[in-house]
Amino acid sequence: MKVAIGCDHGGINLKPVLIDYLNKNGFEYVDFGCFDTVSTDYNEYALAVANAVAKGDCDKGILFCGTGIGMSIVANKVRGIRCGHCHDVFSAKMTRLHNDANVMALGERVVGPGLMIEIVDAFLNTEFSGDIRHARRVSKIVALEEKNFK
Ligand code: RB5
Repeated sequence: MKVAIGCDHGGINLKPVLIDYLNKNGFEYVDFGCFDTVSTDYNEYALAVANAVAKGDCDKGILFCGTGIGMSIVANKVRGIRCGHCHDVFSAKMTRLHNDANVMALGERVVGPGLMIEIVDAFLNTEFSGDIRHARRVSKIVALEEKNFK
């Protein structure tokens, strides 16, 4: 699995912890920045990661900012992206099982590195349930995108 990763200055400290986890667990990754602590806009990193996933260049995306909120709002504007904003393991697992989320956003000012890894681990290692009612709901999201993005 290839994972697109990105952060702004508010999430910069979580990214090396994530990279270490990805390396140790056999995930490929593409790092879309940012690369320093200079104040920057989350928008461009969320867009780069979301586009990489939407185009199929990467399988999943993980985004960090201060709260995860700005990143998730932007990522969810990209057609084909279902970004879960998760700060607990249960939600991370459920957003894969029920929503087939392909991107996740977290806030460095909300969770520490240990919990972040547990959340990411659940996100990357849980498959979509495929249950008919969840598939129907996801297909309604796809249909809504088709209508609204014309
Ligand atoms: C930056 O201060 C902060 O606003 C940003 O990282 C993020 O939390 C926005 O949603």
